[in-house]
Amino acid sequence: MIWNRKHLLDVQSLSADEIVTVLDTARAFKAVGERAIKKVPALRGKTVVNLFIEPSTRTRISFELAAQRLTADVVNFSVEASSLKKGETLKDTARNLEALNADIIVIRHSAAGAPHFLARFLNSSVVNAGDGAHEHPTQALLDLFTIREKKGKIAGLNVTILGDILYSRVARSNIWALLKLGAKVTLCGPSTLVPRVFEQMGCRVTYEVREAIEDADIINLLRIQHERQRKTMFPSLGEYTSLYSLNKQRLEMTKPDVLIMHPGPINRGVEIDSDVADCGRSVILQQVTNGLAVRMAVLFLINGGKGPQELNSEH
Ligand code: CP
Repeated sequence: MIWNRKHLLDVQSLSADEIVTVLDTARAFKAVGERAIKKVPALRGKTVVNLFIEPSTRTRISFELAAQRLTADVVNFSVEASSLKKGETLKDTARNLEALNADIIVIRHSAAGAPHFLARFLNSSVVNAGDGAHEHPTQALLDLFTIREKKGKIAGLNVTILGDILYSRVARSNIWALLKLGAKVTLCGPSTLVPRVFEQMGCRVTYEVREAIEDADIINLLRIQHERQRKTMFPSLGEYTSLYSLNKQRLEMTKPDVLIMHPGPINRGVEIDSDVADCGRSVILQQVTNGLAVRMAVLFLINGGKGPQELNSEH
């Protein structure tokens, strides 16, 4: 399949073939990352701007490193030191970045739809690095990459997403991607955070943790997204933890080869116990490592790369 998109705005609009193209391209870039010389010139002369209007550790640094590995020039935008603080609009800020010859703008914003908004008037490529509770496409792609790497497939696997689904952009992007590639998705958490409307997307919804985890091949844990909740969605954090946290006792209910995933940042002792976060079945840090290859693949493809077939020995 030949990649043809200028932007990466969401997973919902990607086809299964496009998702597989990103994963295959990322696999080639992961191999590049294991060479003595880890840089390739695919984006030489191009400028990537990381326009992060919301906090980030993993995604921002991962995009920065990915762009550097592709030999692009990288600019990290700091909100606190920017003219957004003086009343400049997002549109004007983005148009000024484009006037400075930004080829790719990677945006994280608290408002759902902010990347789609920029893509409507910019000539630069736009990559969604998380928009409100809407989508976080590269997180889902790196999650699928990790699942495929560890399990050898995605179709037919039972994937449980446990936690705050309602306010999670990671959940939405994962649901779209997993269902498109043939996984079975179960959602679990307090009923206020896991509305049954998700069944209409093709997911199973349950409020019983044992039922959600006992036949899971993958358990993807999500933190409570306090920053997006306008009111308390459950009686207390203590009650949430006692009912839904993945702890050692609950881990014993799972399949012996279950993978424990989390997009980070993790809240130890809340949605996940330290023992579980650091156990042999946890691939949380491997997800972060894989994120670099996936983001290299995304930047490469939206810059005009056609697919993994282009990554031959000349790179
Ligand atoms: N998973 C994720 O998006 O982490 P950051 O918020 O640190 O980027």
